[in-house]
Amino acid sequence: MAAVVLLAWRLPAGADDRPHAAPLLQDARSNFQSITADVAAQQKNLGTPVVELGRKLFFDPRISADGVWSCMLCHQPSLYGTDAHPKSRGVFDKFLPRNAPTVLNSALQFRQHWDGGRESVEEQAKLAPLGGGFGNANDAQAVDRLKAVPGYADLFEAAFPDDKDPVTTTNWAAAIGAYEHTLLTPSRFDDFLDGKTDALTPSEQAGLRKFIDIGCVNCHDGRGLGGDSFEKFGAVSDYWNATHSDPIDLGRFNITKADADRYVFKVPPLRNVEKTAPYFHDGSVEKLPDAARIMAKVQLGKDLAPRDVDDIVSFLNSLTGEIPANFAQAPVLPSGQFHEKP
Ligand code: HEC
Ligand code: HEC
Repeated sequence: MAAVVLLAWRLPAGADDRPHAAPLLQDARSNFQSITADVAAQQKNLGTPVVELGRKLFFDPRISADGVWSCMLCHQPSLYGTDAHPKSRGVFDKFLPRNAPTVLNSALQFRQHWDGGRESVEEQAKLAPLGGGFGNANDAQAVDRLKAVPGYADLFEAAFPDDKDPVTTTNWAAAIGAYEHTLLTPSRFDDFLDGKTDALTPSEQAGLRKFIDIGCVNCHDGRGLGGDSFEKFGAVSDYWNATHSDPIDLGRFNITKADADRYVFKVPPLRNVEKTAPYFHDGSVEKLPDAARIMAKVQLGKDLAPRDVDDIVSFLNSLTGEIPANFAQAPVLPSGQFHEKP
C-alpha cells in the first residue's frame, strides 16, 4: 500500500506512468538525436533520376571485373545491408581483410570504413570499382564497363543533364551516394527521443539507462549511436585477447602511420546492430551479447552482470528499423548481358 502511495506522490499529474521515463528521456536527448528530421528531408529525393540511377548501379554486377559482384552482394537488403560473413568475399572469390559494415544509415557518419579511410559515401563509391570488391584496374576500365551496358548513357544524361559526357566515375559516385543518403531506418528509439516515452519497453529503458551510466555513450552517441569519432579498440586492454582476432589489424595506423593511431577504429554506429552479425572490424565475434560484454571489458574495464547484458542488448534491439522500400526491392536494371551468379 505504502509503495503505491509513494509512486503516486512521485509522479506529476498527467506524466507518463513509467517511473523515471522523463529524466531518462532528458538524458537520452542530451546524448543522442532522432533521425526523424533526416528521414523527412530525404523524402523529396526518393524516386528522382539521380537516386534511381544510384539504386540501379548499386544492384548492377556488370561493372565488376568478373561481371558477378555488385555493391548489393556484399551489402544485401535481406541481411540489413551486410553479407553476414566475418570478412567479405569479393571479385574472383577473393576475401577482403575486413567485415562489411551495413550501408543503412552509413551516410550519417563523419567518415566511412572501419579506419575512416574514406571521407564520405561519395568518395567510398568512387573508389569502390577499383578495390577488391570490383577489381577494375582503373577508372577508364570501370567507365568502359558502364558504357557497354545499353541504357546507362540515357540514365546518366537524365540524372546529370548539365554534363556533356555524364558517364564518369564521379557521377557514378554522386548517384550511388545520393541513393545511400536515402537509406535511413528510423526505429522505436527515434519515437522515444521524439517524446513518445512508451515506445520503449521497461527492459529497453533499463538498457538505455545502463548504456548511458556504464559509459557506452562516451563513444556511441549522436544520430547513429556511433559514426562520429575514432577510438582505440582496447582502450583498457588488448582487444585481440578478447576477440581472438588473427591477424591483428592496426586500424587507422595503416592510414596515418602515427603511433597514437595504432588499433584506433571508427566507433561504429549501432543502428540495426541486432541484424548485422558478426561483429567488429574482422567479424571475430558472432553474438551481440558477447560483443557487448567485450566492449565493457576492453573499453571500460568493467565486467557486466548477465542482467546488464540482457538489458543493454534489449535496448540495442530497439534500434532495429525497417528495411527501406527502395532497398528491399531490387530495381529493374537496363537490359544487356549478365553472368551467372556463383
Ligand atoms: C566484396 C564485397 C564488397 C563490395 C562488392 C562492396 N563493398 Fe562496401 N564494404 C565492404 C567492406 C569489407 C567494407 C569495409 C572496408 C573497410 O572498412 O576497410 C565496406 C565498406 C563500405 C561502406 C562504409 C560503411 C561504414 O560504415 O564505414 C560503404 C558506404 C560501402 N561499403 C558501400 C559500398 C558500395 C556503394 C559498393 C558498390 C560500389 C560497395 N560497398 C561494394 C565490402 C564490399
Ligand atoms: C572508448 C570508446 C568505446 C566505448 C566506451 C564503447 N565502445 Fe563499442 N565500439 C568502439 C569501437 C572503436 C568499436 C569498433 C571496434 C572494432 O571492431 O574495430 C566498437 C564496436 C562496438 C560494437 C560492434 C559493432 C559492429 O557493428 O560490429 C558493439 C555492439 C558495441 N561497440 C557496443 C558497445 C557497448 C554496449 C558499450 C558499453 C558497454 C560500448 N560499445 C562501449 C568504441 C567504444
